[in-house]
Order: sequence, then C-alpha cells, then structure tokens
Amino acid sequence: MSELVTLQTYLGTWAGSDAARKAVAETVTAIAEAGIGIAELVARGPLEEGLARIRGTDPNAGGDAQKELDVVAEERIRAALLPTPAAFLASEESEELIPLNPRGRLVVAVDPLDGSSNIDTNVSVGTIYSILPYDPAVHADPVSAVMRPGVNQVAAGFLAYGPATILVATFGEGTQVFVHDRRSGDFVLARAAVEIPVETKEYGVNQSNARQWHAPMRRYVEDCLAGKEGPRGKDFNMRWVGSMVADAFRIFTRGGVYVYPGDKRKGYENGRLRLIYEANPVAFLVEQANGGATDGTTRILDITPHHIHQRIPLVFGSKAEVEKIASYY
Ligand code: AHG
Ligand code: MN
Ligand code: MN
Ligand code: MN
Repeated sequence: MSELVTLQTYLGTWAGSDAARKAVAETVTAIAEAGIGIAELVARGPLEEGLARIRGTDPNAGGDAQKELDVVAEERIRAALLPTPAAFLASEESEELIPLNPRGRLVVAVDPLDGSSNIDTNVSVGTIYSILPYDPAVHADPVSAVMRPGVNQVAAGFLAYGPATILVATFGEGTQVFVHDRRSGDFVLARAAVEIPVETKEYGVNQSNARQWHAPMRRYVEDCLAGKEGPRGKDFNMRWVGSMVADAFRIFTRGGVYVYPGDKRKGYENGRLRLIYEANPVAFLVEQANGGATDGTTRILDITPHHIHQRIPLVFGSKAEVEKIASYY
C-alpha cells in the first residue's frame, strides 16, 4: 500500500517555505480542527440536547432562523481562527465582519453550519469556507476585501459531517478529498485531483418549489422528467439532500448537477444560496475538479458581490449539464 498523505503533509508540501502559503495552511488547519469538534457534537445527535432549538427571536442577516448549532459552530470556528493569520471573519450568522488577528493578512468567509434544517434528522450537515488575501494598505475597509469576485479566493473547501467526516479542499491546484480517520485523528488524503464526470443523468433541485420557478427552470426539469422519450433522450434520476455540502459531495463522487434557481417567492428572487460563503467556495472547488458553476448563465467566480450576505441563483456540477441549463436561460 502506498504511504498515507495527511492534511498536514499535504499542506507542508504545498506551502514549502512560502510565508503567504503557510498562513493559508495554518488557517485551513484551524478550520479542520474546529470541524472535528463540530462533528463530535453532531455525532452525539439527540444526546446533545437542543442543537436544533431556535435561538432567540431574531433571524440572522440573511433572514434564516438561527439554531443552537448554527451559533455554536460559528463560535468554535471563531475561537479556532483567533491565533491564526486570519484578520477578519465573515459569517452567515453575523451581520458584520468579526475582527480576529490584527496582524492577519487573510479574510475568511464561512457558512458555519450548512444544512440547518437537517440538524435533528441524522442527515449530513457541514461547514463551508472561503479564504481571500487581505492587505490593509489596499482594503482600508476590510469589507471591501470580502466583496471581490470569487476568482480572488486563495483557498476554499467544505467539511461534511456524515457517516464519515470529510474535507473537500482546494488551494488552486485541483480539488482533494480528505477523510477524518477516527483511529489516528488525522485527515487523510483519500482522493487527489478529483474530476467531476462531464456528463450526467442526475440532477438535484427542490421540486416542491416548481410552481414558483420561472419558465427556463420549468422547461429544464420537464425535459429531464420526460426521460428517454423527451428531447434529452435519456432517463434522469433526482437527488436532493437539503444540505448543499452533502449534495456537493455526491456530485464530486459521481457527477450530477445541483440547482437552486431564483423563483417568484418574496425573498427568493435570487434563490437561497449566499454568494460569498456558499456559492463562491463551491464554485472554486467545482471548477478545480473540471466542473462548472453559474448563476444560470454567468460564471459564479466572475460575479462582483454587492453585499456580504447577498443571495445568488446557483447551478453547479457536471460541466456539460451546467452548460445545458444555461441554454434554457
Ligand atoms: P443553511 O442551512 O446554511 O442556511 O443553508 C441551507 C441551504 C443549502 O444547504 C440547501 O441545499 C438549501 O439551503 C436547502 O434549501 P430548501 O430547504 O429550500 O430545499
Ligand atoms: Mn441558514
Ligand atoms: Mn448553507
Ligand atoms: Mn448555514
């Protein structure tokens, strides 16, 4: 058997003696360690009382009710990042940027807990992160460091807390899958240079919103449902977990497309997913794995954000299917 590569050895090789890369490596290590703690909490399930309980009466900045685990996960990530070279943290659960290390030269954006609606259902949830460079001389207002198109990310990834705790990570040199080995305590490289199959017969969308969709989305799904006899000439399968990290991991494993379009509901004009800490990191990972990510037509990584918590219609996964969807718009 070939020698095991741990996250630490992978990062050591990637960073070498480059100070900027070492800072990124340290930051990702801290997020991964916080993830192990969150995974332990999640694994206790109902024994850990109240993880899915709604906290207080105020929603977060994006309008979602905050559950206990949303807030605990953010707190753990914040604490883990304090001693790292991260200067600021943008988070789904905090309206404003959270200051961290005043000498830091990175900004981190996180979805501390993705899949809040699945917390008490024993279904995978996760943590998503995006890392951008920060130079106080250029970004006098640190918010402007976060409000840049996703092409500026230096690293991104997500943890999924499922039967296995996995870390899907990119540092701009392909996408790698690490698995947390509960025996050794290490994240071990399980798949290097992941490639998402270009073609697929599997799509994921919350079909219960069909009546709210605009015409292009309706037509796309209708054509999938028509199967072999329809214009696509093949039968499709559908999968929707309700935790984007879990849907994304399936796509990294066997291909497929994830779609959360904008729809006619008030507040859903731009779908449900947030650009800075959900769409951008996933788009970076997907592109590094030869997949595509758009808002229907435009490449996600080229979009200039106008608000930390803004939503964006999101289509990602197998490249040919993402392009097919663009042809309906
Ligand atoms: P979050 O739990 O971080 O707010 O994100 C939930 C997102 C995503 O994980 C998931 O794919 C989608 O919302 C599910 O939305 P619906 O409940 O509308 O299907
Ligand atoms: Mn939420
Ligand atoms: Mn989320
Ligand atoms: Mn969340």
